[in-house]
Amino acid sequence: MTAKKPQLHRGLKGVYFERSAVSSIDGRAGDLRYRGYSIHELAENSSFEETAYLLIFGELPTSEQLNQFDSRLKAERSLPAPIFDMISVMQSAHPMEVLRTCVSALGSFDASPGDSSREAIIEKGIRLTSQVPMIVATHDRIRNGKDPIDPDESMSHAAHFLYQLTGKQPGEEAIELFDKDLVLHAEHGSNASAFTARVVTGTDANFYASVTAGIAALSGPAHGGAAENVMIMAQEVGKPENAVEYVKERRRNRLPIMGFGHRVYRAEDPRARHMKEGVKQLSEQMGQPYWYEILQALVEAMKPWSRHGVNVNVDFYSGVVYHLHGIAVDLFVPIFAIGRTPGWIVQILEQLETNILIRPLTLYNGSKPRKYIPIDERD
Ligand SMILES: CC(C)(COP(=O)(O)OP(=O)(O)OC[C@H]1O[C@@H](n2cnc3c(N)ncnc32)[C@H](O)[C@@H]1OP(=O)(O)O)[C@@H](O)C(=O)NCCC(=O)NCCS
Repeated sequence: MTAKKPQLHRGLKGVYFERSAVSSIDGRAGDLRYRGYSIHELAENSSFEETAYLLIFGELPTSEQLNQFDSRLKAERSLPAPIFDMISVMQSAHPMEVLRTCVSALGSFDASPGDSSREAIIEKGIRLTSQVPMIVATHDRIRNGKDPIDPDESMSHAAHFLYQLTGKQPGEEAIELFDKDLVLHAEHGSNASAFTARVVTGTDANFYASVTAGIAALSGPAHGGAAENVMIMAQEVGKPENAVEYVKERRRNRLPIMGFGHRVYRAEDPRARHMKEGVKQLSEQMGQPYWYEILQALVEAMKPWSRHGVNVNVDFYSGVVYHLHGIAVDLFVPIFAIGRTPGWIVQILEQLETNILIRPLTLYNGSKPRKYIPIDERD
């Protein structure tokens, strides 16, 4: 009997490696659900806190459960003192490098970093969910020569991040938009960072190692860095009339248009539309309608690719929202990380339920077997 020819799945495209009860994605229909609930309903009606609870515990909370969860998140709004020193030392690094390093370091302040029981991971996860935005905001203040802002337990998760970043009480509209943005980014199945976190968990490495690795994977422009690049692109395009030529030039050089395309979606990314309206309203309110117009001109210019399944993704609109709120471009990926933290927690929890070493194969295409030649005998 001849051996079956191995099938190669580059980039693991279309490969199922595990079962999951967290997110379901129908890429052709453009449907995304967390625990069975449509992303559209969650984006319109839920809050980050409620969505995080849903992801971690599997069900929507009662009022009492949500209050308790919210209190736990608020009670964890603190960072160990040496983390401030670390941030100061590396203040000129990219915020994702600072975040990755600080999350890794947080493991050394945990009395039992290797405890991977469900309760322990939930406890660590809740703490980290509160600490991630604090690291991002603290770093931005320190690098701008400002003092970090003391935590405040009266605010929601989204409001608290904006408050610690700017030192000012954010407005209702800004809070609402950011909260929605965090809900939209909270979970997305086996994306590169969640898969990375699962691979690391599969080796029985601890929670901090897994999340640190997830943050590293998110930092790449093909995953989390797109919002940052969309803003740079919008600035480069400059005015709506330039969009067609910009797209043509990028395609001539076989370069991707940022904020378009997705490994899974062939229809529009269902998360994208929820930020679109925000960009439109905000850019008009701020007297900068051209941002929305540039983005729409890019969508028009990309229409020929839309027929081939290359549509706007979640990162297309969010960058402009952050920019219009005066947020530095290099904070866009860390904001994605703030939203995605519950997603990493639940992926790690799920991996631990039936943990297995994740170790695929590479199909060898190198030299035939050959003899070692001592160095003085080589040509
Ligand atoms: C996300 C991304 C890496 C997915 O890559 P992928 O899974 O390999 O893409 P696909 O297999 O769907 O690509 C199919 C075709 O569409 C093209 N395509 C995909 N994304 C494109 C983009 N953003 N701009 C132009 N063309 C694109 C590919 O080049 C490919 O063309 P080909 O068949 O002629 O080679 C890719 O779309 C990309 O780089 N997008 C820009 C970055 C981005 O916005 N990332 C955030 C994702 S949430």
